[in-house]
Amino acid sequence: MYSSFASTFKESYELSSPYTSLHDNYVPKKPRMSGLKTLLLATGCLTVLGCLLAIALIEVMKNEENIHKALNISTTHQPDLHAEESDQCRIVLVESIPLWMDYGANASFGVPLYKAWKDLLSTASKQIDMASFYWTLTGEDIGAKSVTDQFGRDILEQLKALPKRNVSVRAVSSIPSVSSNSTDLDILRENGVHVRRINFGKLTRGILHSKFWIVDNRHIYIGSANMDWRALTQVKELGVVIYNCTSLATDLYKIYQSYWVMGHSNATIPDPWPSFYDTSINKDQPLHLNLSDVPSRVYISNSPPAFCPESRTKDLDAILSVIGQAGQFIHVAVMEYFPAFKFNYHKYWPVIENALIQAALDRNVTVRLMISCGRDTDPSIFPFLKSINSLNSPPDNIRIEVRLYIVPVGNETNIPYTRVNHNKYMVTDNVAYIGTSNWSADYFNTTAGVGLVVSQDLSHSPSPGDTLVGQLSAVFERDWDSKFAVPLEKLGHNPDCIFSKA
Ligand SMILES: *[C@@H]1O[C@H](CO)[C@@H](O)[C@H](O)[C@H]1NC(C)=O
Ligand SMILES: *[C@@H]1O[C@H](CO)[C@@H](O)[C@H](O)[C@H]1NC(C)=O
Ligand SMILES: *[C@@H]1O[C@H](CO)[C@@H](O)[C@H](O)[C@H]1NC(C)=O
Ligand SMILES: *[C@@H]1O[C@H](CO)[C@@H](O)[C@H](O)[C@H]1NC(C)=O
Ligand SMILES: *[C@@H]1O[C@H](CO)[C@@H](O)[C@H](O)[C@H]1NC(C)=O
Ligand SMILES: *[C@@H]1O[C@H](CO)[C@@H](O)[C@H](O)[C@H]1NC(C)=O
Ligand SMILES: *[C@@H]1O[C@H](CO)[C@@H](O)[C@H](O)[C@H]1NC(C)=O
Ligand SMILES: *[C@@H]1O[C@H](CO)[C@@H](O)[C@H](O)[C@H]1NC(C)=O
Ligand SMILES: *[C@@H]1O[C@H](CO)[C@@H](O)[C@H](O)[C@H]1NC(C)=O
Ligand SMILES: *[C@@H]1O[C@H](CO)[C@@H](O)[C@H](O)[C@H]1NC(C)=O
Ligand SMILES: *[C@@H]1O[C@H](CO)[C@@H](O)[C@H](O)[C@H]1NC(C)=O
Repeated sequence: MYSSFASTFKESYELSSPYTSLHDNYVPKKPRMSGLKTLLLATGCLTVLGCLLAIALIEVMKNEENIHKALNISTTHQPDLHAEESDQCRIVLVESIPLWMDYGANASFGVPLYKAWKDLLSTASKQIDMASFYWTLTGEDIGAKSVTDQFGRDILEQLKALPKRNVSVRAVSSIPSVSSNSTDLDILRENGVHVRRINFGKLTRGILHSKFWIVDNRHIYIGSANMDWRALTQVKELGVVIYNCTSLATDLYKIYQSYWVMGHSNATIPDPWPSFYDTSINKDQPLHLNLSDVPSRVYISNSPPAFCPESRTKDLDAILSVIGQAGQFIHVAVMEYFPAFKFNYHKYWPVIENALIQAALDRNVTVRLMISCGRDTDPSIFPFLKSINSLNSPPDNIRIEVRLYIVPVGNETNIPYTRVNHNKYMVTDNVAYIGTSNWSADYFNTTAGVGLVVSQDLSHSPSPGDTLVGQLSAVFERDWDSKFAVPLEKLGHNPDCIFSKA
C-alpha cells in the first residue's frame, strides 16, 4: 500500500463548453425490429411457422460460423492453456484518489491507478485486450480544458506506440455509449489498434459497462475505471491488478472473446454459447491459488445472463453468494444503489436489498453501504437509501447504515461528471468482491460487467493486513471514517451532493 498520495498538479483549466453531457450513463434504446424481421412480417411469412423456424436456424448457424471464424482468425490471441502450473499470482490493490482531497497524514492508499496502468503497458510484450464503456483520454474529448488530463494523454500516447513495438492491441467499447466527440478510438485505429464497438443496445437493450484489461495472457486489470483521463485525477476509482496469473487471464479472456465476436454488425447472441466459452472456474468450483502468497479461492463472475454459459457464475449470483456467506460484516462501496430498474422497466427489484436485510436481521451481520453523492447523482435513489438506513437499530441488534461519500468539487466545477466515488466493491469478513457495476437491476439483466471474487481465510493468516480482504477492509474503513463519508442524518447543506437539496 502507498502511504501517501502526493499530487503535484498546478491546476489551470478553463471552460470551453458550457455544458457537456458526458457521463457514465446509459442511453436507452427503444427495441427495434431488424430489417429481416420487418421484411418477414411484410411478406406475411409470419403465418408460416416453419419458414420462420428455418430462417431462425440459418441465422443461428450463420452466427456460429461467425464465432468459429472469429475464433480461428484470432488464434494468435489464444492463451497458452498449459502455463498455469508456473503461476505465481501477485495481486495489487489500485486506486485513484481525486486531486485536492486531504485525508490527513496517516492515511494509506492502493497503488495509484495511473502507475499501475503505465506499468502494465510497459510490461506488455505480445498483446493487450482492453474493454471500456467509453474512451475519453483527453480534455478535448469532452470539451473541457484541464491540465489534469496529462496522465490520460500519456496513456493514449503509450497505447499508440504499442503496435510499433509489435504488441497486438484490441479495444472494445459500447454502443450505445457516451463521449460521441472522442477521437481516441479513431486515433488508436490509425495506429494499428484493432477496435470494435459492441452493440449491446441491439444485443440485449443494455450497454457494455465492463472495464478490464488482459496483458500477454498473464496479467489482468479489473476495476471501476473507464479509459477516461478523469479516472486518473478527478474520479475516485478502485480496482486490482493481478500479475503473472495465466489461469485467471485465460478465464477472463473467454469473456473478452465473447465481446469480440459479438462486435460484428449482424451478430446475434448464441444459445448455447460454443464450448470454448465454458469455464471450469465458478462459484461452486473456485480456483484454488495463492494470491501474493495468500491461499485464496477465486472466480470471475459475468453479466448479463445472456453472455453466461451454464458454467459461468452470473454477477448477481456472485454478489448474493458473498452476502449470504458473510458472518460478521458486509461493507459495500458502490457509486449507485437502487433496488429497482432504472432504464428498461419501471419495476421494483429488491433482490440485493432482501439479501442485505436478511443478513442483518437473520444473522446479526453488520451492513454498511457507502454510496456516492455528487452534483449529477440521480435524486430518485435518495428515498431508497433513507428507507434501508431507517432499519438501523443497534439496541435491537440490527445494524444497517448508509453513508454518502461526497468528493468535494472545490474549484473543479467545470469538468462534467467528475468528483464522484466511482468504486464498485464489497468486502466481508472473508471475501473481497471487485466489480464494475452499479447495484441496480439493469446491470444484472442487460448490461455487460464482470466481478472478481476472492475468498481468503483471515483467521489463519499470519498477517491479515497483507491479504486482499484485509487491505480492502482497511480501504473501506479509511473512507467510512473519513470526513468525506456523511451519515444520512448528518447531511446538512452541501452543494456538492444533490441530495442535500431534496
Ligand atoms: C484548486 O484548488 C487546489 C486545492 O485547494 C489548489 O491547490 C489549486 O491551485 C486550485 N486551482 C486553481 C486553478 O485555482
Ligand atoms: C450507475 O452509474 C453511472 C455511473 O457509473 C451513473 O451515471 C448511472 O446513472 C448509475 N445509476 C444507476 C441507478 O444504475
Ligand atoms: C478453424 O477452421 C478450420 C478450417 O477452416 C475448421 O475446420 C475448424 O473447425 C475451425 N476451428 C474452430 C475452433 O472453429
Ligand atoms: C499519525 O500517526 C502517528 C504515529 O502513529 C500518531 O502519533 C499521529 O497522531 C497520527 N496523526 C494523525 C493525524 O492521526
Ligand atoms: C461535440 O462536437 C460538436 C460539434 O463540433 C459540438 O457542438 C459539441 O459541443 C461537442 N460536444 C462536446 C461534449 O464536446
Ligand atoms: C516487429 O515484427 C517485425 C516482423 O516480424 C520485425 O521485422 C520487427 O523487427 C519487429 N519490431 C520490433 C520493434 O520488435
Ligand atoms: C512476474 O514473473 C516474472 C518472471 O517470472 C518476474 O520477473 C516478475 O517480477 C513477476 N511480477 C510480479 C509483479 O510479481
Ligand atoms: C449484415 O446483414 C446485411 C443484411 O442482411 C448484409 O447486407 C451484410 O452484408 C451483413 N454484414 C455482415 C458483416 O455479415
Ligand atoms: C500456496 O503456497 C503454499 C506455501 O506457501 C504451498 O504449500 C501451497 O501448495 C500453495 N498452494 C497453491 C494452490 O499453489
Ligand atoms: C450481534 O453482533 C454484535 C456485534 O456486531 C454483538 O455485540 C451482539 O452481541 C450480537 N448479538 C447477538 C444476538 O448475537
Ligand atoms: C430482466 O428483467 C425482466 C423484468 O423483470 C425479466 O422479465 C427478465 O427475465 C430479466 N432477464 C434476465 C436475464 O434476468
